[in-house]
Amino acid sequence: MITLGINYSQMHDSSACIMRDGEVLFAVAEERLSRTKHDARFPELAIRACLDFAQVRPEEIDFICQGWSVPRTAYLHDLKCFATGRQPVNPRALLNSTRHFVSMWHQRSGENRFHRLFGPTKRSFRFVDHHLAHAISTYAFSGFDNAAVLVLDGRGAWEATSLWHGRNGFLDHVWTIPWPNSLGLFYAQFTDYLGFQAYSDEWKVMGLAPYGEPSVNLREFIIPDDSPYRVATHRLLGKDSAPTAGIEARLGPRRIPESEIDARHKNVAFAVQDSCEGAMLTLARAAVEKTGCRNLCLAGGVALNSKANGKILSEGLVDRIFVQPAASDDGVCLGAALAPYMDSGGKLPVRKMRHAYLGPEIPEEEIEKTLRTYKVRATRASDPAQTAAQLLADGKILGWVQGRMEFGPRALGSRSILADPRDPEMNAKVNNAVKFREWWRPFAPSLLAEVASEYLESATDSPFMILTAQVKPEKRSIIPSVTHVDGSARPQTVERDVNPLYWRLIHEFGARTGVPVVMNTSFNLRGEPIVCTPTDAIRTFFSSGMDALVMGNFVVEK
Ligand SMILES: [Fe+2]
Repeated sequence: MITLGINYSQMHDSSACIMRDGEVLFAVAEERLSRTKHDARFPELAIRACLDFAQVRPEEIDFICQGWSVPRTAYLHDLKCFATGRQPVNPRALLNSTRHFVSMWHQRSGENRFHRLFGPTKRSFRFVDHHLAHAISTYAFSGFDNAAVLVLDGRGAWEATSLWHGRNGFLDHVWTIPWPNSLGLFYAQFTDYLGFQAYSDEWKVMGLAPYGEPSVNLREFIIPDDSPYRVATHRLLGKDSAPTAGIEARLGPRRIPESEIDARHKNVAFAVQDSCEGAMLTLARAAVEKTGCRNLCLAGGVALNSKANGKILSEGLVDRIFVQPAASDDGVCLGAALAPYMDSGGKLPVRKMRHAYLGPEIPEEEIEKTLRTYKVRATRASDPAQTAAQLLADGKILGWVQGRMEFGPRALGSRSILADPRDPEMNAKVNNAVKFREWWRPFAPSLLAEVASEYLESATDSPFMILTAQVKPEKRSIIPSVTHVDGSARPQTVERDVNPLYWRLIHEFGARTGVPVVMNTSFNLRGEPIVCTPTDAIRTFFSSGMDALVMGNFVVEK
């Protein structure tokens, strides 16, 4: 059975994937191909890439599944929120809500668009509830037979948070907290208040939080520990169309974007992260209690909060945790594509997702052709892992483009910028010269899975950089540039059989330096999507302060 999954909510992160008999063949977010960050348009390029990769014609697809359905009740739910004062009537919110109502009809136009672009198919479009698609996207890839499944996002068609119970391939709905009682909305409003882009820059608030102190009380905006949690939306949004007016009335003026960060901003960031962690711990406790299950699966944009995820595990609330690496809406296509397996009470195929290398690969000939086109002088490496390891050991900042591109927001050794984590100045060097991003944002380590317990307090499998762990105190000075100010790190544990080339690079770096750990950050400039093609990589390489580029077997040095 061939299924095509699509995320197209018209909000952000459109994507597509293609599966054969429940196995993912290919998945990519539209932004990587269109080069528009968080692209929300119909994922035409992503769908074309799926069909090309799988060598499948549209008429051969059995199901086309879109992870967004807009029931009439969603609009009625919004109206009820306005009427009861839970959601203040402001033009922006009303416009959004009306847009959702209208998009009930647009769903059909999306389907028509597919047929116009790609021709006839065996069956008609299928619309999958957004939270169900998120829930499948984590449970079916966790490898757990039995798991509590939490979906936490800004909003689905009408949902904010939901709990599901996965058992032997069956997934049952337990409860849903309707929007606007939403952790994603809470975090996004404060992200905006702190001068960053809501629903995009939440990372920045999370990174800033450890620099703050516990001096700001947010309990009038959120009660994180009143099971499950309560967000006071009417205070967050204020009474007029200014998005953060309610917060400003209580905490002072909003930070002007790009202006200086002061102690007040740091303390607000601390309080926001602390409240979110509190609510997520409360939810994890409730999920375990309700399902009687100590395996936890997470998805939804809020589940990208690696700090909170790590805390759920380190505080012993659960035994094992799986977070879908594409936890935000890009990953919804994975869940949507599996939804037909639940038809007539059917079972989901449950597999352990060991890697996220599901995107396009660049053939060696294409790399060579592109280098020739741009007249870039390159040498051929007999062993790119050894060459890269030596460059890193020499203190070079390296672009590393190999194999299939990662699916999800993290670069995991396919489209990465790598550097030496031992150099205490490297964090600032990469931030200033390459990424052009804020000074406080931490970099993450990739380390051999075999040495995780030597470097980390709670050594656990962390192949997707989505769980924060504490670096052992005696190792903090050895890898200072990937240890955050609070002693934490967001590690990627690299297994030899999952990514042999990347494993060998780190191993070779370890052989030269005694430290089998590299600094790994995504290969992109600030505000741009991660590079996909050789052209993207060359353009980014020459627009930044990187020293060398290892792409396939080719090495370019400045
Ligand atoms: Fe979502």
